[in-house]
Order: sequence, then structure tokens, then C-alpha cells
Amino acid sequence: MTKNNPIGLFDSGIGGTTIWQEINLLMPNEDTIFIGDQLYAPYGIKTKQEIIDLSLKNVEYLVSLNCKIVVVACNTATTNAISEMRARCHIPIIGIEPAIKPATILTKTSKIGILATKGTITSDFFTSKVKMYPDIEIIEQIGYNLVNLIESGCIDSQEMKDLLRSYLDPMVEKGIDTLVLGCTHYPYLIPIIETIIPKEIKIIDSGKAVAKQTKKVLEELDLLTTRESRGTNYFFSNTDVSILKEFVPSNGIVEYRNF
Ligand code: DGL
Repeated sequence: MTKNNPIGLFDSGIGGTTIWQEINLLMPNEDTIFIGDQLYAPYGIKTKQEIIDLSLKNVEYLVSLNCKIVVVACNTATTNAISEMRARCHIPIIGIEPAIKPATILTKTSKIGILATKGTITSDFFTSKVKMYPDIEIIEQIGYNLVNLIESGCIDSQEMKDLLRSYLDPMVEKGIDTLVLGCTHYPYLIPIIETIIPKEIKIIDSGKAVAKQTKKVLEELDLLTTRESRGTNYFFSNTDVSILKEFVPSNGIVEYRNF
């Protein structure tokens, strides 16, 4: 493996681009390959075995493109398939999980809300993390249909606003002061969420922490790029690339690939 090989990232769709943004901000000279498995999105309503199979397919594709590390830019894939991916693969794999621990440190009311996919919230991985904080009231909410709407370009729709209100109002009524966004698609909803919840409620996600962790692992393995100019950024989708194109920088190379 050489230092100038790309960082690979995958998600079910465009959500993972929120993680790509943090990685690119922290390590702009790295080459990156992002794959959005949009043909099979959303992952959140699939069975654990389906999520494992899709995750392994994606990791193997990124390995075949000579990635030096894989960032799983998807909470659903991480919480259901991280051990299978690590067992299958000889390169480091960085996962992402809902930021429960940071939220338990931030909260003053000892009540936090977590919005995530069904696949994440029902995973053993997630439920065992929740059990680690018996003194904190953790109000979980599955974000049914949010990813579908984002993937079909309906972020600013009335349907989205109504759905978010129905998920968030009960959390606010219960007195949360911290809201964890446990799906990488959801940071795109922050402008709408901010119109629904009181501004005192802090909204947190795991993007920055994942980028920092990725840099730390590359540093430890002496795999940070030696390139002194900005890296090249590829974004692949296995379906129509038009939505993905709207979420990536204009100098990103967006292409259809069959993976
Ligand atoms: N963005 C992903 C996550 O963080 C997957 C969402 C989905 O496909 O349901 O969970």
C-alpha cells in the first residue's frame, strides 16, 4: 500500500457526502473515492444480512480500486456489519456510529434524543451502546422515510417538514436538550430541524470525529499522502448520477459505475 493511494468511502447514497466533506476539509490533499450504493438505498429498512452483503460488496469494490483505508460513511452499515467488514478485509476500516457518548457529556437535562434509521436503532451494536448510560434518558426515534425523500431530491418538501415535526415534537416535549443525528443523510436536514426545535437544543453528528479518527489512523500507519496539492475526488453511483452530482463539489468527478 502506498501513501498516495485513495481514501475510500461508501454509503447507501448521498448521505455519506457529509462525511466526505469533513474528510476533505481535514485532508484536502488526499485522493478520495466515494461510492453511493443508490441502486440499493435505503439500507435502513433492510435485514441485517442484506446490510452485511451490501457492505461487503462495497468494501470489496473499494479494495479493488486500491484504496488504502475505507471509511464506512453510514451508521446503518457500521452498526450492522462492521465486524464482518473488518474480518473480510486487510485494510483499515473506520466506522461511524451515533454520537451517544458526546451527547451524554453535553446534556444538562440528562435527556437526549436520537434520530436514526430502523437498521441502526434495532441493531445489537446500538442497543448495547445505549445500555452503557443508564442514568441518561435516551429517546430514540426511527426516521422512517427521511432517506427516501432526501434521495429523491425532496429535502425542502412539505412532506419532509411534516415528518420531521412528527418525529421531533415528542422529543422536545420530553425535555431533550441534545439531539443526535444518527444517520449521515440527516445533516442535510439541519436547516429544517432548526425551524422545528428550540434553538437551545444542541444538534450533534459524528462527521468531524470520524474525519479526525481517519487522519489519526493514517498517521499511525504512516499512510498520509505526500502530495502537496489538492487531491482528486471521484464520486461513483450505480444508478442515475444526477442527484449525487448536486451534493458534491463542482471539481469532483462524478461517474456511473456498476458495483
Ligand atoms: N446514511 C446511512 C446511515 O448513516 C444510510 C441510510 C439508509 O440508507 O437508510 O445510516
